[in-house]
Amino acid sequence: MSGDRKIFPDLESLARAAAESIAAAAGAVPANGTMSIALSGGDTPAALYRLLAGEYRERIPWQRTHFFWGDERWVPHDSPKSNYRMARETLLDPLGIPAANIHPIPTDLPDPETAALAYEEELRLHFKAPFPTFDILLLGMGDDGHTASLFPGIAALSERRRGVVVTQSPVEPATRITLTFPALERSRRTIFLIAGEKKRPIISMMFEQPEESRARFPAAMLSPAGELTWMLDREAYDAE
Ligand code: 6PG
Repeated sequence: MSGDRKIFPDLESLARAAAESIAAAAGAVPANGTMSIALSGGDTPAALYRLLAGEYRERIPWQRTHFFWGDERWVPHDSPKSNYRMARETLLDPLGIPAANIHPIPTDLPDPETAALAYEEELRLHFKAPFPTFDILLLGMGDDGHTASLFPGIAALSERRRGVVVTQSPVEPATRITLTFPALERSRRTIFLIAGEKKRPIISMMFEQPEESRARFPAAMLSPAGELTWMLDREAYDAE
């Protein structure tokens, strides 16, 4: 699979390496500029978010950082299943990020399709382009090889015109809002955060059979224009 692979003994050291990479990206942002970061959902990134809000609080110009999401579940923002709520609790509230810098996927709108169209418009307004160019894109991978809410075999995998669409997940919450490949692949620095032995079968296949993996697994299909780094813990990567 393309990109750099970095293997870590545990989630803590993986999170620290990701935090260092984000701090390095922040260092490249002009003094009067802003940094944009697209957050991943699920459980894995929480350790990173807590580290960023704690030890890395002074290392990054957070007041000049804008936060977006790569995907969201179609649940209220105060739901325990909300990617926004997880980031709010672990990162955004502890850092005191101003509301103007936080761009959640609007699950408070009447329906998912309206929300997808509204988010696409918000991205276009912020980036002044048809698709966003995030300074940093954080992604996870499900044990079926999905990333964001792009699941194996769905029509959204071939979407090249729209940047944000509604998809259906095989696991609850079923309805999702996700960025599509054209909206994800312009990012300057993409970091996959993957931990846990449930991910090992897919990761092994991605290393050993890259072509077949690229045909099957959305995480392997992603082909970013910028840097791509796979940060894996020992449980997800079987060295033998
Ligand atoms: C989500 C995420 C999803 C996640 C993977 C891995 O909304 O759940 O965006 O793509 O990154 O499912 O989740 P874990 O990190 O919890 O294994």
